[in-house]
Order: sequence, then C-alpha cells, then structure tokens
Amino acid sequence: MSGVAQDMSAYWDRAGRVWVEQQALLDRLFQPIAKAVVDRADLRAGEAVLDVGCGSGATTFEAAWRVGPQGRAIGADISGALLELARRRAGEQALEGVDFVHADAQTHDFGVAFDAIVSRFGVMFFPDPVAAFANLRRALKPGGRLVFACWRSPEDNAITQVPLDAAAPFLPEVPKFERNAPGRFAFADPGRVRSILAEAGWRDIAIAPLDEPTPVSFEELMTMSLRVGPLNPILTNADEALRTKVRDAVAAALAPRVQDGVARMDSACWLVSAG
Ligand SMILES: C[S@@+](CC[C@H](N)C(=O)[O-])C[C@H]1O[C@@H](n2cnc3c(N)ncnc32)[C@H](O)[C@@H]1O
Repeated sequence: MSGVAQDMSAYWDRAGRVWVEQQALLDRLFQPIAKAVVDRADLRAGEAVLDVGCGSGATTFEAAWRVGPQGRAIGADISGALLELARRRAGEQALEGVDFVHADAQTHDFGVAFDAIVSRFGVMFFPDPVAAFANLRRALKPGGRLVFACWRSPEDNAITQVPLDAAAPFLPEVPKFERNAPGRFAFADPGRVRSILAEAGWRDIAIAPLDEPTPVSFEELMTMSLRVGPLNPILTNADEALRTKVRDAVAAALAPRVQDGVARMDSACWLVSAG
C-alpha cells in the first residue's frame, strides 16, 4: 500500500467509527441517493453487482433486493469497523447473495465478475483515481455499467459550508477542501470526473445533478454539522469552551433553515454513469 493509500485507510478507520455511530441517521438521510444510484444502474434479477466503498452496506442491500436471491451483491470497503457493521446488518436481514470484502478498490483484483458497479459516496477517496477507475473497469463484464453519486461543491452543500463559515471566527484554522485532492469533494468538478473516467477507459459518460431536499429535525442538522461534517475532528480535540462557542454559532447560523420544526438538508450531488 502506498503512503497516501495508508493515510486514507487510517483516515477511514477513524472516520468509519462516526459513520458506524450515525448509521441509522445517515441511512435515512441518504436512502434516496442509494435508490437513485441503483435505479440508474437498472439492475436485473440474477445480476452480479459491486458496491464500491460500501460502508455499512445500505447501497449493497438496495442492490441485493433488485438482483434477488439468484444474483450477487458484493460490498467492498477499506474500513474494518464499517464492514463489521455491514456484515452484521446483512445477517439480521437474512439477505441471500450478499457478501462483503475488505479491499482497496483502487488495486484489488476482483476478477471479471460484475454486470454493474455502483457507489454512494464511496469513490472520491482514491489517491490515484485514474488507476482506480481503470481497475474497476477490469472487474466489469462486457456491456456492464458504472453508476455512482458524489458530492457537488461545498458551496452547493449548505450543510457543509454554513457550519464552517459560522465556526470560522473561533478556529485557528478553517478546514479547506483542496479541489482535486482525495476527499469528499474531490469530484465536485464534473469536467474533472469526465476526464478521469475517459482516461480510465470508460465511455458513454453522463453526469447530471441529483438534488435531494431531505427533511430533518434541528437536532439531526446539528449532528450532521458537528459530528459527521468536517468540524468533527477539530471539535473532538477542542476544549469545552471552544466546543460551546462553535456549537452556539452553528446553531444560530442553522436556525433560519428550520420552518415549522422541520429543517431541510439539501444534498447537492452528481449522479454519474458510464459504460
Ligand atoms: C462517505 S463513506 C460512504 C459509505 C457508504 N457508501 C454509504 O453511503 O453509506 C466512504 C466509504 O468509502 C470507503 N473507501 C474509501 N476509500 C476506499 C478504497 N480505496 N477502497 C474501498 N473503499 C474505500 C470508506 O472506508 C467509506 O466506507
């Protein structure tokens, strides 16, 4: 494993714990995105599908329902904590044809095994995205298809930008998103996504906005902002006084997003497909 890949693996061992902790909330908020991905993949009964960066398995399960007991839905991830949860959830649902592998999707040899490859937010972390998407293409049978959802820019996603702006005056350093570096916003630029996929050998590339106006409670909005979002690592290491100041500032900034007790967490994504 290269140094960058090792860093990403260590990062997801830590960040994966937050996703484990918040699995129920994240799955509810992002369920429409898993559905949009799997709908676009147009999965048929009996097909084999790979879910890249599967996390705790929500998209793998969505795919498993579509391909049925004669099909196969395989989730691949580098986070042991998330895979453990995914396997437990698969057991609880007694789903047939579901399996999970601990694998770096950039380099793992999957064989020529899949009719479709899907991902919800699991493909933006590759240190070498061209190599990763070329590797994934090798795992696809002739005529297979790729569909994934990734985030548009932080500016398009108020749930990221509003808390960061509110917290900025209190922080020695505000997290910055390097546009083209591996990370949640690595694929914000659709031109970059298109050229990565083309260089990796994919054709029929289509990239369309996917907007999900998800209703949430104020508490859930705060959890997404402080616990799941980019402020989490800063606040985890901060003293109580700083945490309180940031929490109050973020709460004030998010308050206008609540109407009649319901807030909207608008997810601004790209839905990307290729063959
Ligand atoms: C934002 S989470 C999304 C998880 C899941 N798809 C979901 O929507 O709930 C990103 C996932 O990608 C995984 N990941 C990152 N780099 C990866 C790689 N090179 N190979 C496989 N999985 C990777 C992380 O461990 C993490 O579970």
